[in-house]
Amino acid sequence: MAGQAIVVVGTQWGDEGKGKVVDILTEFADMVVRFQGGDNAGHTVVIGDEKIVLHLIPSGVVRRHVLCAIENGVVVNARTLRREIDDLRKLDIEISGQNFLVSERASLILPLHIELDRLSEERSGKGKIGTTGRGIGPTYEDRVARRGVRFCDLADPRDLDSRLDVLLDHHNALRRGYGVPELRKEDVAADIREGVADILPFVGSVSRMTNRFYEQGMNIIFEGAQGAMLDVNHGTYPFVTSSSTLAAQAALGAGFDFHRISSVVGVVKAYTTRVGEGPFPTELKDEVGEGLRRCGKEFGTTTGRPRRCGWFDAVQVKEAIQLGGVDRLALTKLDVLDALPEIKVCVAYKLGERIIHHLPAAPAAQAEVQPVYETVRGWEEPTAGITSFKDLSKMARNYVDHLENILGVPIDLVSTGAKREHTIVRRQILAR
Ligand code: IMP
Repeated sequence: MAGQAIVVVGTQWGDEGKGKVVDILTEFADMVVRFQGGDNAGHTVVIGDEKIVLHLIPSGVVRRHVLCAIENGVVVNARTLRREIDDLRKLDIEISGQNFLVSERASLILPLHIELDRLSEERSGKGKIGTTGRGIGPTYEDRVARRGVRFCDLADPRDLDSRLDVLLDHHNALRRGYGVPELRKEDVAADIREGVADILPFVGSVSRMTNRFYEQGMNIIFEGAQGAMLDVNHGTYPFVTSSSTLAAQAALGAGFDFHRISSVVGVVKAYTTRVGEGPFPTELKDEVGEGLRRCGKEFGTTTGRPRRCGWFDAVQVKEAIQLGGVDRLALTKLDVLDALPEIKVCVAYKLGERIIHHLPAAPAAQAEVQPVYETVRGWEEPTAGITSFKDLSKMARNYVDHLENILGVPIDLVSTGAKREHTIVRRQILAR
């Protein structure tokens, strides 16, 4: 009998709490596969009093029985990955060829990409994107321009050599333009070999492994990073990341038969946050926004930057649901709203004199839309740590039900705190 394959994605601008949701669902999974992005992401899992921050390795790694994989839609900085493995080992979390696999087709983030990310942001001045500075964009650019280096290119020196000819031809021309020293092929090759040495034993085919696991009746979770509004095709372009963050990318990146995916779980925060530049219709630049940041500890896991905070934007989340085929939701950080006497939910936008129910495609219009709010009463009671829906106060239940009605998708899971056990499971998403 075949297994179940589901995808977990962010439905806002990232930082929705996907790490915790994946951790909970992994109780019923055999394999967790990270499907896009790179070490720009930061997924936090809190088990007991231990806080574990992951950037590349799927959150499933904290459960011993699970095979974790990084598929080829991901761009990998081998040195960061090595550090992450070392940090996990210090916490007695084992990483071996038995529980960890990296796609042979995943592209490598090299120091030249990180440098270029920084240089291009500096040159952009006011037009900068506010990237995480991890070299993500330049690495994806090289990938689609067919000059990137992948793990499989390390197997035969002829492959690496020809890749570097193409790569350095392009990058040295760019570097001359930026006025930074050119790079020598021998140095870059030696640096790559040194950086990947400890990772090569984990490299293999994620495509064959995911399809085989599924056929053998195992459950697979594909774990996304960032969120729908940072998707390179459908997000708030150009203020987006450089990969596809939507669920369809899970099958594309892994080379996994997409018919086999049975469900897409959208993770959604009870309010909205965003890091970096770009439009954010419900942003609060007042003390309410400040309160959300303080109470929700809204500082970037990867960069430490304060996150911009605002009210729940149902227009934007509905769009993310449609774009990503989301058929169930996990609502996180409900407890952050506990103290508020009233809560606003954006239900439409005003663009000039017009009322619209979608985010326009063009950046100027995106920046111009004004939120149309509906105000609901807060509950002003602690929900932190509650594990049963009926134990929530009536107004807190109303908020959850209200969001469910507006969004038209069931909220199967509600998170009321950072810890694993601070979770309300309304309906099981995965089962054995
Ligand atoms: P990049 O992915 O580093 O190129 O950054 C592009 C945009 O995506 C910037 O606005 C970043 O702040 C944002 N971004 C990238 N990764 C994350 C994440 O994991 N959470 C939230 N925002 C992110």
